[in-house]
Amino acid sequence: MSNVSSEPVVPGAPTPPDLSGLPAGFLWGAATAAFQIEGDVEHRGRSIWDRLCERPGWIVDGSDARVACDHVNRYRGDVGLMRELGLDAYRFSVAWPRVQPGGKGPLAASGLAFYDRLVDALLEGGIQPWITQYHWDLPEELQDAGGWAERDVVDRFTDYAVSLHAALGDRVRHWATLNEPWCSAWLGYGSGEHAPGLADHRLAARASHHLLLAHGRAVAGMRAQAPADHQLGIILNLFPVRMDGVLAAADVRRVQDAVDRLDGLQNRWWLDALLEGRYPADVQALLATHLQGVVEDGDLGQIAQPLDFLGVNYYHDAVITAAAPEAADERGPYPGMSGVGPAEPDGEATSMGWPVTPHGLRDVLVRVGREHPTAPPLVVTENGSAWDDGLDDRRRVDYLYRHLAAVADAVRAGADVRGYFAWSLMDNFEWACGYSQKFGLVEVDFDTLERRPRASFAAYRHAMDVSRPPPAPAR
Ligand code: FCB
Repeated sequence: MSNVSSEPVVPGAPTPPDLSGLPAGFLWGAATAAFQIEGDVEHRGRSIWDRLCERPGWIVDGSDARVACDHVNRYRGDVGLMRELGLDAYRFSVAWPRVQPGGKGPLAASGLAFYDRLVDALLEGGIQPWITQYHWDLPEELQDAGGWAERDVVDRFTDYAVSLHAALGDRVRHWATLNEPWCSAWLGYGSGEHAPGLADHRLAARASHHLLLAHGRAVAGMRAQAPADHQLGIILNLFPVRMDGVLAAADVRRVQDAVDRLDGLQNRWWLDALLEGRYPADVQALLATHLQGVVEDGDLGQIAQPLDFLGVNYYHDAVITAAAPEAADERGPYPGMSGVGPAEPDGEATSMGWPVTPHGLRDVLVRVGREHPTAPPLVVTENGSAWDDGLDDRRRVDYLYRHLAAVADAVRAGADVRGYFAWSLMDNFEWACGYSQKFGLVEVDFDTLERRPRASFAAYRHAMDVSRPPPAPAR
C-alpha cells in the first residue's frame, strides 16, 4: 500500500475506499468513444448515428455530434488532462467511417493520421492506448446494405478490423473488437432507441449473431499477424437481473420467467458463445424463428476464439416487476417481455434515472469466473454516472468510490480483475440523450469547448495514488 494519505481531497467528500487486494500492476484508466467526442465530421464518412441525429425528435435535446468535444483538434490538451489525472491507460474507439469511409476499400491515410498522432501523444505521455474498433458508428453505406442484420457485414468488419490492427499494431498492444454488442443489436434493431433506429426482433436476433461472428473472425485475423504480447478482447455490458421483491403471488412465475429470459439475452447469449462456443438453449428457442438459416455450421467455433481479456461495462443492475401486458409482445423491445417491465429505482438514482447499485458490479465480476472457469482476465472497461452537479460533483465521487470498493470486493471474492476504466474522461454526446447527460470527470462547456476538471477528477487521482505501491526508495 502507498504512503499517500487516504483523507479526502475535497473537504466533506468521501474518503477513498479500501482497495486492498487489487493485484499488482492494476491498471487505472478512463474511456471515451469516437462519435461521442471527436467532431470534425468534414474529414470522415457518415455513420448510422449521423443519420439518426437528423431524424426529428430522436435526440432529446435536438443536438448532433458534428462538433462534440472537438477532440480531433484538441487531443493534445486532452492527453495533457489524462497525464494530470495520472492514468495508466486510455480507452478510445476508432471511427470506422474516418479510416474506411463507406466501409470498404483501403484505409484512408488522412483518417489514420489522426489516430497515429493520438497514439504517439499517449505513448509520449506514458499512457497505454486501448483501442475499441467498433463503438456503434457503422458506415452508413453498410446499413444501406442491411447493416448488422446481413451476413455480408461480417467480412466488412473483419477486413476493417484486421487492416486497422495492421496499421497501428506497431504501437498499440490492446485491442477490443466490439463495444457492447447487445446494445448494437437490441437497442439498434430491437427497441430502435439507438442507430439505425429499427424496431424488429428478427433483425436484432440476426444482428446479435453477426456481431459475434464478426468479432471472432476479426480476432482470428488479428491473432495471425499479432506479436505475442498483443492483448485481444471484446467488451460486454453485463448486469445482474433480479425479480422485484414485492410482487403479487399471481405475478411471480411470469416475472421470474422474464428475469431468466432477460438474463439470457443480456448476459448468457454473449458469455456462452464467446467462452463456451455455444448459445444457451433457452435463448436459442426464444429466437428460433428469427434465426432460421442464420447460424451456419462452424460459426460458433469461429466465435469462441481464445481471448486475452474480457471487458465488462457496468452502470446498474436491473430489477424486473409486473406491468400491464402489451397488446402484442412483438411491440416490446425484446421478445417474451410482455406483462413485465423495469421496476422504478427505490433508492438513489442518477440523472439518467439509473439506480446506484454497486453490489451488482461485484456480483457480475464474480459470476463470470464462477460460471466460466476458463474465462480470460476481466477488465472493467466502463463504469460511471451522470449528474447535473457542476464542478462540485460529490455524488459522482460517491458513486465512483462505491464502485471501486465493489471491484476490490470482487477481487477478494476470487474474481480476476486487472483494471478499471472510468466512464468518462469528459462530458460528451450521450447518444439519444445528446448533451443533456454529463458523465465526465472533466466538465466540457459546449459553447466554448473549455474543459474544467471536476472534484471527481481529483478524487479519482487520489484513489489511484492511494492504491499504487510507493516508489522504491532511492539507493
Ligand atoms: C455505455 C456506452 C457509452 C456511454 C455509457 C453511458 O453503454 O458504451 O458509450 O454512452 O453507456
